[in-house]
Amino acid sequence: MNNINIFLFVLFLLPLLASCEEKNVYIVQFRGHNGEKALHEIEDTHHSYLLSVKNNEEEAKASRLYSYQYSINGFAAVLTSDEASKLSELEEVVSVHKSEPGMYTLQTTRSWEFVGLNEGGGRGRHNYKMGGGLLSKAKYGQEIIVGVLDTGIWPESESFNDEGMGPVPKSWKGICQTGVAFNSSHCNNKIIGARYYMKGYEHSLGGRLDDTLDYLSPRDRVGHGTHTASTVAGSRVANVSVFGLARGTASGGAPLARLAIYKVCWAIPQEEKAVGNTCLPEDMLAGIDDAIRDGVDVMSISVGFPRTGFAEDAIANGALHAAKNNIVVVCAAGNSGPDPATLSNYYPWIITVGASYLDRDILGPLGETTPYGLEKKHPLVYAPDVVVPAVAENESAHCLPGSLDPKKVKGKVVFCMIGLGMTVGKGVEVKRAGGAGYILGNTAAYGDTLLFYFHVLPGTAVSSNDANKIIQYIKSTKNPTAIINRGKTVFNSQPAPSMASFSSRGPNPIDPNLLKPDITAPGLNILAAWSEGVSVTTLSSDKRFVKYNFQSGTSMATPHVAAVAALLKAVHPKWSSAGIRSAIMTTGKFTHFITLIDFLMCTKLCLTPKWPINVAAGSRNNRGEPITDQLGKVATPFMFGSGHFRPTKAVDPGLVYDASHEDYLLYLCGDKPKLECPENPPSPINLNYPSFAIPKLNGTVIVKRTVTNVAGDGKSIYFFRSKPPMGISVKATPSVLFFNHVGQKKSFTIKVKARGGMAGKYLKNEYGFGWYSWNDGLHNVRSPMAIALA
Ligand SMILES: *[C@@H]1O[C@H](CO)[C@@H](O)[C@H](O)[C@H]1NC(C)=O
Ligand SMILES: *[C@@H]1O[C@H](CO)[C@@H](O)[C@H](O)[C@H]1NC(C)=O
Ligand SMILES: *[C@@H]1O[C@H](CO)[C@@H](O)[C@H](O)[C@H]1NC(C)=O
Ligand SMILES: *[C@@H]1O[C@H](CO)[C@@H](O)[C@H](O)[C@H]1NC(C)=O
Repeated sequence: MNNINIFLFVLFLLPLLASCEEKNVYIVQFRGHNGEKALHEIEDTHHSYLLSVKNNEEEAKASRLYSYQYSINGFAAVLTSDEASKLSELEEVVSVHKSEPGMYTLQTTRSWEFVGLNEGGGRGRHNYKMGGGLLSKAKYGQEIIVGVLDTGIWPESESFNDEGMGPVPKSWKGICQTGVAFNSSHCNNKIIGARYYMKGYEHSLGGRLDDTLDYLSPRDRVGHGTHTASTVAGSRVANVSVFGLARGTASGGAPLARLAIYKVCWAIPQEEKAVGNTCLPEDMLAGIDDAIRDGVDVMSISVGFPRTGFAEDAIANGALHAAKNNIVVVCAAGNSGPDPATLSNYYPWIITVGASYLDRDILGPLGETTPYGLEKKHPLVYAPDVVVPAVAENESAHCLPGSLDPKKVKGKVVFCMIGLGMTVGKGVEVKRAGGAGYILGNTAAYGDTLLFYFHVLPGTAVSSNDANKIIQYIKSTKNPTAIINRGKTVFNSQPAPSMASFSSRGPNPIDPNLLKPDITAPGLNILAAWSEGVSVTTLSSDKRFVKYNFQSGTSMATPHVAAVAALLKAVHPKWSSAGIRSAIMTTGKFTHFITLIDFLMCTKLCLTPKWPINVAAGSRNNRGEPITDQLGKVATPFMFGSGHFRPTKAVDPGLVYDASHEDYLLYLCGDKPKLECPENPPSPINLNYPSFAIPKLNGTVIVKRTVTNVAGDGKSIYFFRSKPPMGISVKATPSVLFFNHVGQKKSFTIKVKARGGMAGKYLKNEYGFGWYSWNDGLHNVRSPMAIALA
């Protein structure tokens, strides 16, 4: 997936200490919690453990990078493998694991209108009207503190202007940490705190941070952190555009919420001298630890890790302790789609967010096009026909650095395929070889997902279907030519929302009983603030610096959902983090299909074989049709979870599925044997989650759930409805729930049964999808299900 220039996990090569005494960073975790212990006490304890394996005081002291206080009970230290295994043998140590090189999936004007969150009409940041909608009910989030764990911030951006904002909430305990090009005057009533964590990063670099690479401070040299922070809580700024595109009012989802910046991810050099990035788990955990201490209400973490167990997963560990403090943690699903089981952040105390299209595009006739074009016809060539002889046959279509022959490319438009190498780097290569412009073709896997970039020369991205047509055209024509019309902003040009090809997919690789992702939100071609410390393409050869930029990825979807969590927290300060997650999930746009009305409303898809028979669930898009994926096929809950988020509905969900920190610990019992667990911990499928999955149904499974009434005057009657996958029956007991006060809980069971032959026919080696809901005539509390047979 390195062809998408969204933040990806970047493999970090450890310094070449080829001796047998290779030292790595390990995170050591102890049983139990720190409780009320003071930090110096905790540090002393950690020091004594290190002293027991090191030669002397000095070594022990130098080796410890962080002592964690509020997240895990443990520390990060530089150890040899011998020292690490000595520590792991101790009875009180739960886990010792090596910090794996950080792999990092990172991931707006238009997006808020698209989901109905644009009340006040807001032109300009003074326009925060008090109407009756979610934004005004939440006072635009002004009492809420959102921690953004990312690459830092560009504080001068207009989006972080604090004009008109009240004083910092009293609950705030954080600081504004100074450093290179960042002092206390860079914090204000919008950016109320900023810190940075670089010990793991510096260790991985094998020395001190290189000043030319990143700022040793909360200042953002990558762009990503500025983008995500402004998406979640940027102030309203009128008349924002980049190179004249997408002009409009830029606004975060919670435009008066406060930002607490934790810089846990850093720039690293990338090919083509672009700015790459990485995050180390020990730095991440240190940031989460402080965020808990500082008193954030919501954490937005647009970062993912590859599949790991719980002990190795710094975000999962930190987020579990955040949940104990009722902090809502929102994370990216990852950019490793479209293959199945590619998710990261798959634990139940995290809100896992997928990415989908908005109804805005920067289009030329075929696809996402730069706002600068080629007015006249130019000769068009296919990259494999114009490469230097040394280039391997199978990679010749990718326009990799040095691959094109200037004699054959000069003045022409070159057709390149996406994949292998940086996408913007292909434009650089075409330009180097003297090309006039280029067309970037999608491979079959990318289908219709098109990403917008400010390429270094006129360029357009086209779908895999169009790519095939263009290749055919080149091959069948004597003198093929191309014009690249400059891209313009268009709305409603395509079905939206639709799932992005790169959005990571279920099933959950760790626990197939827990359906993930949870929700999808806009994550393609999102406009938000940008760091002026990095060019618009991140290439160092590119001298174009901008205040706002387009980015794509589940990183961009994540702060959309974090903003909604902030607004919900403002309206319902007493709700648990699980309640907030439930409200966002059960109100997602997720319409079951195949009723008569659905069938009549469906104009096209139902009549084509694109509709898989085992999908009994879809969500409607702006065409009144089910949400599709990048291939135009009906999307499933493994892509969008509970559907596309609907903030205006989430504020009044009717019922919520609550869960406590203790429930999560019990859930972990299967995974973490060293924890104190009861003899017979509850089955993970009975964790009170607003969705479920059964990976190997053989006969019958009973699923237990409890709902809490959070609506209105509290008196209501809810009826059970369901649309299971073909061949499956579901039955709720009881099937009617009576409530007479707010806060009342009701439990029920769902009996899921395979109907012999029918099930075998439709669900052979395949998941089928459906939903169930509780409906009182006002609220429809819906949960998706995914079921496969044994
Ligand atoms: C902080 O840095 C800015 C320049 O970026 C400078 O103008 C200002 O005086 C500094 N403030 C403090 C408190 O040092
Ligand atoms: C928006 O900005 C452009 C320049 O970037 C300016 O020409 C235009 O007048 C501005 N429009 C408004 C409504 O302020
Ligand atoms: C290209 O060919 C080489 C040698 O045959 C092979 O090792 C490599 O995996 C191929 N790469 C791709 C992307 O197919
Ligand atoms: C299903 O359950 C039955 C009875 O417990 C057992 O005999 C059979 O092997 C199971 N089938 C699969 C595919 O697990």
